[in-house]
Amino acid sequence: MTETRGEPVQVVLASSLAQRDPEVARWITAGRGSLAFILGDEDCRHRLLAQSINWDRVLLACQEGAPVGYTSFKHQRRGPFSPGIRPFIHEFGRLGGSLRYGLFVISECREWYYGFYLYGLHVRKTARRQGVASALLQVAFDQALSLGHTKIELEVQVKNLAARAFYARHAFMPIRTFPTNWLSRVMPFPTVINLRRRLSPHP
Ligand SMILES: CC(C)(COP(=O)(O)OP(=O)(O)OC[C@H]1O[C@@H](n2cnc3c(N)ncnc32)[C@H](O)[C@@H]1OP(=O)(O)O)[C@@H](O)C(=O)NCCC(=O)NCCS
Repeated sequence: MTETRGEPVQVVLASSLAQRDPEVARWITAGRGSLAFILGDEDCRHRLLAQSINWDRVLLACQEGAPVGYTSFKHQRRGPFSPGIRPFIHEFGRLGGSLRYGLFVISECREWYYGFYLYGLHVRKTARRQGVASALLQVAFDQALSLGHTKIELEVQVKNLAARAFYARHAFMPIRTFPTNWLSRVMPFPTVINLRRRLSPHP
């Protein structure tokens, strides 16, 4: 339990919960907005990904038992989603589905070189500026350290000034900007900055 400015926050690994909350599944799948050109709108992303959420890669923050924030992570090349091709073909047909599935796999592989990679940190609007995301981040740091990692990495959209301020506050340093010019001409990826934070074990 973490004391914050609002209600105390409890952060748990979602796989440790007895029940899967469909609202949380919807929330998590909505978070891949930067890949909308491959995965479609929020409803479509939910249909494609909801059945393949890896709950052991999701950290959930709760206040008074209600989920108020989440983050997810990739470790050992396993991230929050492992969809097969079938829902893509069902959604977009054999050709379109195969193409989109291939692009999704490539986009996920793009992150192969990260050891511990943080995805989609999100806090409900009504719970912001109370330390919820900071509590999630602290548990993610602990998780990464316990798995033997000495750094944690993520991408943030250049235009997301609030998130950039949040990560700067938590000592993340910019590494590079992606995509490079040639790639942004062929793929509509939003421009993101890679950030890295070194971790040191608790004394
Ligand atoms: C960014 C986000 C996760 C922050 O969550 P949060 O729970 O409000 O963050 P915290 O309360 O732990 O903030 C800690 C510090 O981060 C900084 N910060 C957080 N939100 C900020 C904002 N909107 N503008 C400027 N600084 C901000 C501040 O320094 C803040 O400390 P302070 O409140 O004492 O000033 C939240 O605004 C959010 O969900 N945004 C939409 C989704 C998103 O953009 N996610 C990031 C994807 S990479």
